[in-house]
Amino acid sequence: MSDFVYHASSTAPVNIATLKYWGKRDKDLNLPTNSSISVTLSQKDLRTLTTASCSSQFTKDTLWLNGSPHSMDTPRTKQCLNDLRTYRKELEASNEKLPKLSEMNLHIVSENNFPTAAGLASSAAGFAALVSAIAKLYELPQSASDLSIIARKGSGSACRSLFGGYVAWEMGSEADGSDSKAVQVATLEHWPDMKAAILVVSDDKKDVPSTSGMQLTVQTSDLFKHRVEEVVPKRFLQMKEAILKKDFETFGELTMKDSNSFHSVCLDSYPPIFYLNDTSKRCIKLVNLLNEAAGKIVAAYTFDAGPNAVIYYLQENEEIVLGLLHKIFGKLQGWENVDTAKLSIIDGFPVNLIDESWSSGVSKVILTEVGDGPLDTDEVLVDLKTGLPKN
Ligand code: PMV
Repeated sequence: MSDFVYHASSTAPVNIATLKYWGKRDKDLNLPTNSSISVTLSQKDLRTLTTASCSSQFTKDTLWLNGSPHSMDTPRTKQCLNDLRTYRKELEASNEKLPKLSEMNLHIVSENNFPTAAGLASSAAGFAALVSAIAKLYELPQSASDLSIIARKGSGSACRSLFGGYVAWEMGSEADGSDSKAVQVATLEHWPDMKAAILVVSDDKKDVPSTSGMQLTVQTSDLFKHRVEEVVPKRFLQMKEAILKKDFETFGELTMKDSNSFHSVCLDSYPPIFYLNDTSKRCIKLVNLLNEAAGKIVAAYTFDAGPNAVIYYLQENEEIVLGLLHKIFGKLQGWENVDTAKLSIIDGFPVNLIDESWSSGVSKVILTEVGDGPLDTDEVLVDLKTGLPKN
């Protein structure tokens, strides 16, 4: 079969919002009720690798995710494939010599380099990698912003994973979503010293999925109206400016306030939605005590629709931020690449408050940093003889 299998591979990153997307004005198109901002995280630590292949011999569209087959028959995935095929058809119509890839079924093989069970937003990296790999296979001329519109239909936050560095998702106003897309606020090179420590929090209960959580908030929270009309529009401008000025104090304060605001509208939903647990709350306290001891904001926490803490900080403060985290979570996995001898506890930190109980509930630490957008790769996950996953 080898002559007949066309293929291309891409990797895509995870992004963690500093100004949260929460609320849809159109559920089918994933159109948001507010604009949002995120930092793209390094693919060295967290990424999805996807190979897209197509052949006239494939009998149906099929996806394998981390080794097991998954249905592509979901409305969201179908919308993404339809859009990509439509663009490919346009190309084929303009150049007769091109093979009719748009008419062939796809075999997609996708792998994460981090455990899905960690509860990290893997759907963003997943849809961004899917769209990037198929766009590469189809040799589409569309820009990253154009492709972000397609990824958005798969999972809202996925649109922001089409860029590296610092990214905004502009909510847009068109009913068809044609202006609801991601744009880059600043490149990785503009502010390369942004670091992120992820505290993976173990959680027994199943979180409310983001789509149903958002719907409940939109329908029942009074506070939500204030958030989307008053709070976020101002914060969106302020946060973009803080990124452009590399002003960590403002960036950090806005990040923490927006995480608080997002979890407040969850609590204000009826019945209430709780994503933070006691471990998450201890992480918040820890960051507050650290900033108090430093006399300025050196670390900023944020939480998505789950209990994991993501703590942003700058390289210049690594010694004191990681010093504290290592004191508490040093026994956990995740410190392999850190020279712990260089770390220290900041003067004035109330160490007497810290006991064994502070590390409970956290299962591992992921130390990472701002990173690139989707990358092309020569790695191929599809066996070109059989059209099936290699492993
Ligand atoms: O894209 P979704 O449906 O997984 O929603 C993501 C929502 C948050 O992670 C809580 C916020 C965000 O902007 O990423």
